[in-house]
Amino acid sequence: MEKFFNSWMVFSDPPNQTKLRESVTSAFTRRVADSWSGYAREIAVKEFARLGSGEIDLADLSLRIASRFTCAVLGVPEEDDEQVRLWSNELIACLSTPKLNADRARVGVRAIEQLGTYLDTRVLPRIRKPVDDRLLPLKGMADLDHDMALALFTQLLTGGIDPVASSLTTALERLLSSDHQDWTRMASSPELTDKAVEEALRFDAPFHFVPRTTTESIQIGDHTLSEGSRVVLVIAAANRDPLAYQSPDEFIPSREGPSHLSFGLGRHYCLGAILARMVLREALQEASRWVQSSSPMYMSGERMPAFGVSTWKRLSILV
Ligand code: HEM
Repeated sequence: MEKFFNSWMVFSDPPNQTKLRESVTSAFTRRVADSWSGYAREIAVKEFARLGSGEIDLADLSLRIASRFTCAVLGVPEEDDEQVRLWSNELIACLSTPKLNADRARVGVRAIEQLGTYLDTRVLPRIRKPVDDRLLPLKGMADLDHDMALALFTQLLTGGIDPVASSLTTALERLLSSDHQDWTRMASSPELTDKAVEEALRFDAPFHFVPRTTTESIQIGDHTLSEGSRVVLVIAAANRDPLAYQSPDEFIPSREGPSHLSFGLGRHYCLGAILARMVLREALQEASRWVQSSSPMYMSGERMPAFGVSTWKRLSILV
């Protein structure tokens, strides 16, 4: 299990990280993101349209949008979403449990095996002989050996679904629990929607920290970190730095100011950042239209107890 996670791009150094990253970089460009934007909007339109009335959980809606979108860009057909999301959850549960017990580890190992078979039989054939031209840039993944392809696929899957769902719910929760004027403005202004997306990412970083090892001795204030120290960079705290942001604990959808660190920085900078921003923008644009026609009433939001990640259990509204 440890060997498996250590082979993930985000937890490894060059040359493994470079090889994995370069094999699929061309699938995460702005051009490719633009080619998926119509589909992202389609998913959002469909999900909001089927909400109905009564008490509704928007955290669930966010998860469905994030999951369908991430699965689609990775070549997973819609009918397999639920199963793939279950496996993905099992891996995340292993990663976010500081001390893994035997039962949890067994479930994780089984999920890895099942995802391996699934990748070989369902996904890679769809990429090798693309059923959709937009999957062509993933060809590099199909050329890797089995273990590397599986490490890449599982990281893209888990790294894509949950943070997108988390940020979308954060944006919906903050906007619905406050001034409805924002929705009206956002509906007519894609620029304001983009700003609201950035503010949701800043306000509540889906991943709270990134681990690093120092490659040389560095001085931080009164502290000296020697070369080879393991450090944890808490990006969620940096996003609320009062020296960088005015009223950092307030959610201000039109906020101007320095970019947040929610996608990390440097060599491991989030490969899916362009795609994530695009799907969040499309979903929020559709949300602003839906809110104006449905006038939902905010009830409550509840977070999931989790280590190092922001996850929503529920966002209840009344329609
Ligand atoms: C709101 C959504 C997302 C957030 C907040 C997010 C955040 C992050 C963060 C913090 C890192 C680590 C950066 C570092 O260590 O410096 C990362 C890496 C990564 N992310 Fe994302 N991510 C998001 C969406 C996605 C999506 C949609 C995908 C792909 C489908 C993706 C794929 C990756 C990959 C492959 C890496 C590893 C990059 C490397 O190690 O070179 N992410 N992401």
